[in-house]
Amino acid sequence: MVNLDLSNAMKKLDMNEYTEHIKKFEEWCQTEKKSTSGMIGWMNYCSQIKPQELSRIKEVAFDIRSKFQVLVVVGIGGSYIGARSMIEAINGLYSNDKIEIIYLGNTLSAKYTQQVLSYLNDKKFAILVISKSGKTLETTIAFRLLKQLLKTKMGEHFVNAVYVVTDEHKGNLLDEAKHFGYETFYIPSDIGGRYSVITAVGLLPMAVAGVDIKEFVQGAVNAEKILSTSNVEKNQCYQYAIMRNALHKKGKAIELFVTYEPQVRSMCEWLKQLFGESEGKGKKGIFPASAVFSTDLHSLGQFIQDGNQCLFETVLNFTEVDKNFVVPDVGKDYEGLDGMAGKLVSDINQIIFQSVLKAHATQGGVPNIVFNIDKMDAYHLGYLIYFFMKACAFSAFIQGVYPFDQPGVEVYKENAHALLKNDE
Ligand code: PA5
Repeated sequence: MVNLDLSNAMKKLDMNEYTEHIKKFEEWCQTEKKSTSGMIGWMNYCSQIKPQELSRIKEVAFDIRSKFQVLVVVGIGGSYIGARSMIEAINGLYSNDKIEIIYLGNTLSAKYTQQVLSYLNDKKFAILVISKSGKTLETTIAFRLLKQLLKTKMGEHFVNAVYVVTDEHKGNLLDEAKHFGYETFYIPSDIGGRYSVITAVGLLPMAVAGVDIKEFVQGAVNAEKILSTSNVEKNQCYQYAIMRNALHKKGKAIELFVTYEPQVRSMCEWLKQLFGESEGKGKKGIFPASAVFSTDLHSLGQFIQDGNQCLFETVLNFTEVDKNFVVPDVGKDYEGLDGMAGKLVSDINQIIFQSVLKAHATQGGVPNIVFNIDKMDAYHLGYLIYFFMKACAFSAFIQGVYPFDQPGVEVYKENAHALLKNDE
């Protein structure tokens, strides 16, 4: 179960005032679906995914797991962070799995890239390159460097260690994949980068990491069903979008996504990308930021409690209880943890959450939107991913911006291309 708690956000908000917005949004979704340039394919993708597509992803993933020690996932933005966030949340940050997943193409740091390449030098590795456009600079450079290394190890057989996810109709990467016959999966044209984690973009790396992708898809399918009602009283996805916009209208410029689980840090990065790129245009939008508590209570905590009241928090509270993990009883206690011995660490984490909620929301006047989530597993995360994608689209719609493009990102790319050309 995923349950939204708005009791610590804004008291007097009549959700029914947004009924007209919901009606118009749902009409707009239908128009977007019918349009040849529409980008709303993600909305029904999971409920319509062909069983053969899922089976093929699983088969290829099994093959990669059995043949290689490391899979390097090469991509950036929506072609990277969704998969990473799900793998980390579900498998944890440290895993003893037989295959290691690492990431490249999300930076042009020569130092980092060099370190990854030298780490791979004596490893049996495969490349999974993910790019919708097939021409993103960071991705393309990393891919070329990795291929070079692979060729020194495998010669012409390197093609058997390259896997591709790209647009189904066009792009340089698609042309190259066809030329060399790489194993290739396709991203539907009507699904953009940050909405694509539910396609092979996310599903293939997840499956290689051993995640149950059927459960993940099932979570998204159930979210699609449950969150399809136009009745705002029953639709928590609409309620969340309305609440964050109402808080924004009251002067809250920043939404701080908060987790008490370090392995959910990357999911917060995914949320930042989803909301930042979808809403931040035309001088509008709520700035998405994130924090991991308790860690950041000892850095940002002071500001949140006592500083400029420019933000509200959206907390992802995973409530699963780990019954086996307790504070040990060591007899004579030098550490001052007397009353703690035998207590569950997960219960203490929940007590910290409750204490912070009271401190920030009640005592500090910082509105808190809380998601209570039973488990950090594939099903619940699939549900949440869909929840946030739909909420984000609706939220952007309320603000009057188109959620599925990112014209601002192009500006630096054009500058870079111009400078690189001048350098030739
Ligand atoms: O959400 C988006 O569309 C972007 O963040 C892209 O995913 C990112 O720029 C990478 O693009 P591509 O998949 O074309 O390499």
